[in-house]
Amino acid sequence: MTKAVLGEKDLPRQWYNLNADFPTPLRPPLGPDGNPVSPDMLTPIFPMGLIEQEVSPQRWIDIPEGVLEILMKWRPTPLHRAYSLEKSLGTPARIYYKNEAVSPPGSHKPNTAVAQAWYNKQEGVKALTTETGAGQWGSALAFACAQIGLECKVFMVRISFDQKPYRKVMMKTWGADCIASPSSETNAGRAILEKMPDTPGSLGIAISEAVEAAVSDKSGSTKYALGSVLNHVMLHQTIIGLEAKKQLQAFNEKKVDVIIGCAGGGSNFAGLSFPFVADKINGAKIDIIPVEPASCPTLTKGPFVYDLGDSSGMTPLLAMYSLGHNFIPPPIHAGGLRYHGMAPMVSHAVHEGLMEPRSIHQLECYAAALTFARTEGIICAPETSHAIAAVIQEAEKAKEEGKEKVILFNMSGHGLLDLRGYEAYFNGELEDYELPQEVIEENLKELAAYPKP
Ligand SMILES: Cc1ncc(COP(=O)(O)O)c(C=O)c1O
Repeated sequence: MTKAVLGEKDLPRQWYNLNADFPTPLRPPLGPDGNPVSPDMLTPIFPMGLIEQEVSPQRWIDIPEGVLEILMKWRPTPLHRAYSLEKSLGTPARIYYKNEAVSPPGSHKPNTAVAQAWYNKQEGVKALTTETGAGQWGSALAFACAQIGLECKVFMVRISFDQKPYRKVMMKTWGADCIASPSSETNAGRAILEKMPDTPGSLGIAISEAVEAAVSDKSGSTKYALGSVLNHVMLHQTIIGLEAKKQLQAFNEKKVDVIIGCAGGGSNFAGLSFPFVADKINGAKIDIIPVEPASCPTLTKGPFVYDLGDSSGMTPLLAMYSLGHNFIPPPIHAGGLRYHGMAPMVSHAVHEGLMEPRSIHQLECYAAALTFARTEGIICAPETSHAIAAVIQEAEKAKEEGKEKVILFNMSGHGLLDLRGYEAYFNGELEDYELPQEVIEENLKELAAYPKP
């Protein structure tokens, strides 16, 4: 058997909330006064249905029928055994991957985009604004808004807007409006452009713009959607890991040894791993590895602090690993991994010792992407290549140790609209970039006045 394909009736009917099982409680988001943010303070930007999920202590949360109907267009996604990759590496490890590239926009992002659009629609919202890095999230939200009947406006980080022109065509095809960030449409964007007219932009800046665009519609009919980081986004993505558990059984696997995902804001990694983190909390021995770029090493070099989710203070303070909210990462092609912070739930799990983060340089990641394309056949997104590079490292380790390990990873998206990055790699134009410790420390100075977790 090369792949396990579940039927529609096997699609999970509930999301899994790891907040019910953490050994110690997650630290709450804080307002500017240092006090925890109350749910009603979030109502200008999010609908109540999502705010309730954000703070819910409930272990299982029902997936509404209207969300399931849309998810069923491509879910359950297949779980593949990577026989060809295993063979080319000569590893005794058995490697499995969840293929999230089969969704219409090409990644895991619509799992939450559909849910977020649905809850907004239920509460009478007419339009959503958002940010996007590589364009995967923006196109996922554009797709979801078209399915559900909402307008959509996307602020796309300048560097990716230029590197990935066809992502904006996709968004337009689904009826959304996509503009480069920083833009002159918002106060946040104008302020940055004045200081740094040639900035490549950052997710932090684009988030500020999108939140500002939502709250400045005083009618309340425009809200904001975030593609990663927040608890409700992690929740919606757990459908990936829940499906994978059933599919591993179909392969007769009794246990998993290593779970890997690339981590930008943390959502695809959380989606695959959180249902297994619950097993780890209950005693299972699993190495759970979020993988990030060496040029944006949030989990591996950033401290665990309270920091803003965006660059201009539109969001509450979140307890997370962070490189500082004004950190502008080098313009690597894995745009979706260029985020200064990390999901509070992933950060908490790392802080509790439940996960072992790793950072990898981009040249090793592109080499891994080529190995994957030439064995398994799929051209992965530059973000996903970070997971694959770590999988190869682990498979080689299993070979050295002569161990039959089971490795599971998330193939979070395809790279068919990211070929400029591949081309740059072939032309020898890419280089590795190690973030100097002084740069990290400089950026963290601005956090000195914030409360400590
Ligand atoms: C294909 C793909 N994988 C991974 C990511 C990283 O985001 P997250 O960590 O939220 O999964 C992105 C973000 O844009 C992406 O497009």
